[in-house]
Amino acid sequence: TDIEKGTYPHFMLKEIDEQPFVIRKIIQEYKNENDEIKLDLDIRQAMKNCDRIYIIAAGTSYHAGLLGKQFIEKLANIPVEVHVASEFSYNMPLLSEKPLFLFISQSGETADSRSVLVQIKELGHPALTLTNVPGSTLSREANYTMHLHAGPEIAVASTKAYTAQMAVLAILAVDTARAKGLELEFDPMQELGIAANAMEALTDQKEELEELAREYLPTTRNCFFIGRSVDHYVGLEGSLKLKEISYIQAEGFAGGELKHGTIALIEDGTPVIALATQENVNYSIRGNVQEVEARGANSLIISMKGLDKEGDAFVIPHVHHLLTPLVSVIPLQLISYYAALHRDCDVDKPRNLAKSVTVE
Ligand code: AGP
Repeated sequence: TDIEKGTYPHFMLKEIDEQPFVIRKIIQEYKNENDEIKLDLDIRQAMKNCDRIYIIAAGTSYHAGLLGKQFIEKLANIPVEVHVASEFSYNMPLLSEKPLFLFISQSGETADSRSVLVQIKELGHPALTLTNVPGSTLSREANYTMHLHAGPEIAVASTKAYTAQMAVLAILAVDTARAKGLELEFDPMQELGIAANAMEALTDQKEELEELAREYLPTTRNCFFIGRSVDHYVGLEGSLKLKEISYIQAEGFAGGELKHGTIALIEDGTPVIALATQENVNYSIRGNVQEVEARGANSLIISMKGLDKEGDAFVIPHVHHLLTPLVSVIPLQLISYYAALHRDCDVDKPRNLAKSVTVE
């Protein structure tokens, strides 16, 4: 490829740093001269016409889909189901009367997602693909495409595509809400701009995050991520990032589920990374942290300004509560990066993995 790392030791680090610029680029690309959302009218119509949205994706794109469901349900008031492509493909659920399929794929070449696309096209249902590669298979074969504008993503571990997917999903949700005549207090372009600034501030805190990786994940075999509501979804992404590049066995759990089994795994020194960016669950997630600490866990809390408490290891700037995932994922990406680096792992090309998975 012609893409260069420049002064960066790895593509992953470069791509992490590019995220604020990608968000600003998306704001520009999806805005017209009158500062209104710029979107293909057919997409607007398809969103308005459907009675349910089925998001289909794999891996990190699936994790972005979980947040997309939040945006679309909370802002545009349309029910959304999020499915792992390889599962949906062999075990299709009952569909609504007027489904709209939304494929999320950085590469646009994921075979598991394509297999679903082929099946739903045969059934005559419409499909919209969100992809970073407009000419890709999933883009060509769907009825509509939205471009992620993240620029080429080279590292196997996806970073900037994830935050770009969430930004585009937020814009799509708001556009649909407005098309349906719903009153919103949420200004996506303004809030995304604030999020981009927060992301940029965090990419300047690498030393601190490298130190946290050194302190919490030095020789550990495993690591847990806990959170509630959207923080849980970001925890799933954090755990995927950590496991794929550092080979530490990492799992994300919903805070409230711990006591239903997982807490049995906590031993003296087990690292637990907890996310606390949501006001409505701030009290309960901190209760979960106390529960794991009482069993010997080495816990690290990542919270948000305004909701932070003494002793939190890392505090992200304050952003709109719907957009915290774009920001809270940055420390997780960087902690994973440094944990992998400290273990001498091949950060950009982890073992057993391919950038795009073109087999089912
Ligand atoms: C993420 O870091 C992964 N390497 C992987 O999970 C990826 O997100 C997945 O394979 C989906 O790829 P796509 O977005 O290109 O469809």
